[in-house]
Amino acid sequence: MLKPFIAGNWKMNLTLKESKELAASLRTGVEGMNGVDVGVFPPFVFIEGVHSVLKGSSIILGAQNMYWEDKGAFTGEISGDMIKEVGCTHVILGHSERRHVFGETDSMINSKLSAAFAGDVMPIFCLGEKLDERESGDTFKVIERQLVAGLDGLTTEQVSRLTIAYEPVWAIGTGKTATPAQAQEVHARIRALLEDSYGKDVSARIRIQYGGSAKPDNAAELLSQPDINGLLVGGASLKKDDFLKIVSAAFE
Ligand code: PGA
Repeated sequence: MLKPFIAGNWKMNLTLKESKELAASLRTGVEGMNGVDVGVFPPFVFIEGVHSVLKGSSIILGAQNMYWEDKGAFTGEISGDMIKEVGCTHVILGHSERRHVFGETDSMINSKLSAAFAGDVMPIFCLGEKLDERESGDTFKVIERQLVAGLDGLTTEQVSRLTIAYEPVWAIGTGKTATPAQAQEVHARIRALLEDSYGKDVSARIRIQYGGSAKPDNAAELLSQPDINGLLVGGASLKKDDFLKIVSAAFE
C-alpha cells in the first residue's frame, strides 16, 4: 500500500498569526503518526513564517502555485527557486481555481510541471471535470486531456515522483463530495491511463489524492478505496481539529 498523503490547501485564508498557530498545533498533533505524509500549503506571504514553526518537523511545506520562469520581468509571479528558498519542497499546480478563475490552460500547467521538476520542487498536479462536463458524460475525456497535456514531455522518472489530485470541480468548496465509488472510478481510470503510458511499476507508485469537500466524516471511507492514496483538503484544513481527524483517518 502507498503511504497516504494528506495535504491542506489553505487557499487565500488566515492571517500570519493564525497560520503560525495552526502550523504549531498540527506539528504537535501529528506526532507519532508516522505512516502518513502530512503537508500544508499556506499563502505565499505566510510560507516563511510557517516554515519557522515547522522546521525540523515531518510536516511537508508547499506553495499553492509557481511560475515556470526562473526570474525576470514577470510582475506578480513567484519562481520555484523562490518558494524553495523560503522552505517549500512541494507545490500545487493546476488547481481548478487556477484553471477556471485565473484562466490557466493545460499548456501553462505543463510548463509549470516541467519547471517544478527541473527545480526539484515536488508537484501535486490537480485535475478534474466541471459539473456540465460530468453531466454530459465527458468526465473521462476531460481527465484524459488534462493528464496527457499536463504530463507532455516529462520523463517517466519524473512522472513516477508525481502526486496527482483528482478534484471534481463541482465538489470543491460546495459541501458536495463525490461518493467514494464516483471518486474511485475516476482514480482507477487515471491509474489505467498512467499504466498505458508509463508502465505498471510507475502507475502503481503514483499517489492519487481525492479533493473536494473532504471532511472528517467522509475521509475514512474515501481513503478505503483502492486507488485513493490521500486527500487534498481545502476548507477542513483550516480547522486544526478537523484536519487532524482527517489525518487520523489515514493513519488508521
Ligand atoms: P475543499 O477544497 O476541501 O474546500 O472542497 C479542496 C481543494 O480545492 O483543494
